[in-house]
Amino acid sequence: MAFKIGLLGLGTVGTGTAEILLSPEGRHPLVQELEIYRVGVRSLDKPRTVQLPPDILTTDIEAIVTDPEVDIVVEVLGGLEPARSLILKAISHGKHVVTANKAVISRFGDEIFTAANSSGVYVMLEAAVGGGIPVIQPLKQALGVNRIQAVTGIVNGTTNYILTRMRDEGADFGEVLADAQKLGYAEADPTADVDGLDAADKIAILASLAFGGRIKLEDVYCEGISGVGAADIAYAEKLGFAIKLLAIAKKVDSDKEKLSVRVHPTLVPKIHPLASVSGVYNAIFVEGEPIGQVMFYGRGAGAGPTASAVVSDIINIAAVLKTRDASKLHPLLSCSHQHYCQIAPMEELVTRFYARFLTKDSPGVIGKLGTCFGDRGVSLESVVQTGFQNEFAEIVVVTHDVREGNFRQALDEIRTLDAVDSIASLLRVL
Ligand code: HSE
Repeated sequence: MAFKIGLLGLGTVGTGTAEILLSPEGRHPLVQELEIYRVGVRSLDKPRTVQLPPDILTTDIEAIVTDPEVDIVVEVLGGLEPARSLILKAISHGKHVVTANKAVISRFGDEIFTAANSSGVYVMLEAAVGGGIPVIQPLKQALGVNRIQAVTGIVNGTTNYILTRMRDEGADFGEVLADAQKLGYAEADPTADVDGLDAADKIAILASLAFGGRIKLEDVYCEGISGVGAADIAYAEKLGFAIKLLAIAKKVDSDKEKLSVRVHPTLVPKIHPLASVSGVYNAIFVEGEPIGQVMFYGRGAGAGPTASAVVSDIINIAAVLKTRDASKLHPLLSCSHQHYCQIAPMEELVTRFYARFLTKDSPGVIGKLGTCFGDRGVSLESVVQTGFQNEFAEIVVVTHDVREGNFRQALDEIRTLDAVDSIASLLRVL
């Protein structure tokens, strides 16, 4: 018996998926049982690199999700609409769904999984986070018996590529971004990547799986990389850190009922495995009890890697459909949680900070900074003054762990000091 696939979209990921399905040799035997039954495209005239019988292509995408013959709908259109509506319609017509759409899942996961559970179908999303890296299924299955403490990821290749080049070339953000756009490593509109929004979608999904509760995307704190300067990368290097855009979901130490879920540029100690993840690569570092630390590393985007994740979801569904009573969902493949996780506000976060101040080069400035920090209980790990930016001295401070709210109060006071021109940058330290 072949499983009939309705593929929605024949762009980069759709083409990669079709290529795997059309050449099953040497892959898992279940791939031979998958038939590309219909492919929904926006235009029939566009030249294609993959050879498909012309009669299976259609622009009537909605007809695919309602077609009684289709077993599994694979949504690789991207974007919010019509992807969300098509997924919901497929579910209401009893189709299982495989999607690579992190934007839809992070915003509408509640609606989609509630609908999927009541229709008795699976919605699978391995390709939505980390491209080809298997991380969704491990969180659901192999790591499921662990009490997860933290998931920390480099989940956006564009920003990791930009930060890597800034470090390697000593270049500024704007310069590298423009070149990355020219070379096709960054989108013409890079907002979703550089502002951390893409990473926020992904950590919302990872947090939900790791901690067994739903996450409201608006609760995810998000800060991009455009404020990271060449000077910060150079100071971080000297102090023994690499700067990475990290997506973090972590149990709050003081209140285990709460999570901190956030995306921001972070100083990562060079000895940490995430510090050596360079270029467009992604990695997800999971800490749990009793497993300890596990890291997943690989290509976070691209036709082949993402299609590998898509087809792995399809064969997982096919395997279950072949062997199980379809009236009950497999508990390791379906979504079983319904409550929302409690998210701690950022001022409750306890972390180390890096701050770079531009100040007058006059006696007592470091002392005044130290007093403002000391008054708020902020303990400093290091203070360095090595350079100048025009007429201003550059003072770089790294704190010990501090409650973010206290640190920000100290900064408010520091801003009022005559000797302080500006706080040029402020980054968290892993
Ligand atoms: N835009 C993403 C990135 C890839 O730069 O990693 C798709 O998730």
